[in-house]
Amino acid sequence: MGDVREIRLCILGFGHVTQRFCELVRDREGVLAREHGVRFLVTAVGTGTHGSVVDRAGRTPAQVLAQFRADGDRFPDDERDGTDLIGASGADVLVESTPLAHGGRLAITHIDAAFDAGLDVVTVNKGPIAWDYRRLRTRADGEGRRLRHEGVTMDGCPVYNLAEFCLPGDRIIGFRGVLNSTSNYVLDAMAEGASQQEAIAEAIDAGFAETDPSYDLEGHDAAAKVAALANVLLDADITPDAISRDSIAGLTQSDVAQVLSYGRRLRLIGEAHRDEDGEVSAQVSLTPVRSQDPMYWVTGTSSCLVLETELAGTVEIVERDGLLTQTAYAIYADLLTIARAL
Ligand SMILES: NC(=O)c1ccc[n+]([C@@H]2O[C@H](COP(=O)([O-])OP(=O)(O)OC[C@H]3O[C@@H](n4cnc5c(N)ncnc54)[C@H](OP(=O)(O)O)[C@@H]3O)[C@@H](O)[C@H]2O)c1
Repeated sequence: MGDVREIRLCILGFGHVTQRFCELVRDREGVLAREHGVRFLVTAVGTGTHGSVVDRAGRTPAQVLAQFRADGDRFPDDERDGTDLIGASGADVLVESTPLAHGGRLAITHIDAAFDAGLDVVTVNKGPIAWDYRRLRTRADGEGRRLRHEGVTMDGCPVYNLAEFCLPGDRIIGFRGVLNSTSNYVLDAMAEGASQQEAIAEAIDAGFAETDPSYDLEGHDAAAKVAALANVLLDADITPDAISRDSIAGLTQSDVAQVLSYGRRLRLIGEAHRDEDGEVSAQVSLTPVRSQDPMYWVTGTSSCLVLETELAGTVEIVERDGLLTQTAYAIYADLLTIARAL
């Protein structure tokens, strides 16, 4: 085995995604060292209500996870402000995985603090990319910092990495996709005869809808994803608030049945296009689609994004049944991309 480089992580948010990320690293420590020459060490973790920990010597993600679970899902120290933890961590990379709230303001603050302290950043929180991407990107590039965000739109399915690494010399001029699983699941369940309330209850039971799914059903989540995609892929500078959106809340079973009777399915489609003057238009709209449309076939927790490019033509990206591991993998992949660049 050659030299193994240690990459020190400050993790903010220790919920579903980052715990699964720690499991992933725990199960692949040997592969990471042998095949990638990398060892991830955690020097700080912060949560909202489950304590914090700083250990500048670093612990493996496996040790951090084991300690957290052994102590009843808590870290030993009191909660600390994320900016303080970043400063105290001595880390190389911030992994930002706090909840999306208030236009991602918390995560944006954390990312600025990370850049102030000379850290690179991996975020799965879509807020910073949807609301403040251009400024953060300009800052990262100007200061020689890396900002990676594969997990913000289609879990770990490569969208941003595909655009960055697999389309050299090409330009993306538009995209459309089914980007929100909860609304899609509800539309399909209603097409099979369920009322909207029954469909929502099923989605909650299936484990991928929140107890309050209004953020998904009213198109907010899809609009945030469209804004993130448009900002990165189309060089737009928009926020989700500027994107017109349809809501499926209030849709009745008979509305859905009527569309079905024409041989179509309803889909909440997010899309954006850049015109010849560079203007970007974006929207989230409830659309009846025919079976020739790839969106017709997107079901369950799957999602689909169709990119229109100038040279490679139409490129379809489908994520089949995305779950937590795929989002954890987005962090893993982004960290390896950073490791390669170091
Ligand atoms: N779950 C997915 O499949 C998925 C997919 C793609 C992207 N994402 C994004 O990934 C992020 C994390 O998702 P998740 O499912 O892991 O959420 P989660 O289980 O709710 O975990 C969120 C974590 O953030 C912590 N937190 C809250 N406020 C904080 C603060 N001020 N400082 C530091 N930590 C704070 C929470 O601590 P407490 O519990 O103590 O409050 C918790 O540890 C979200 O932005 C989400 O949108 C998730």
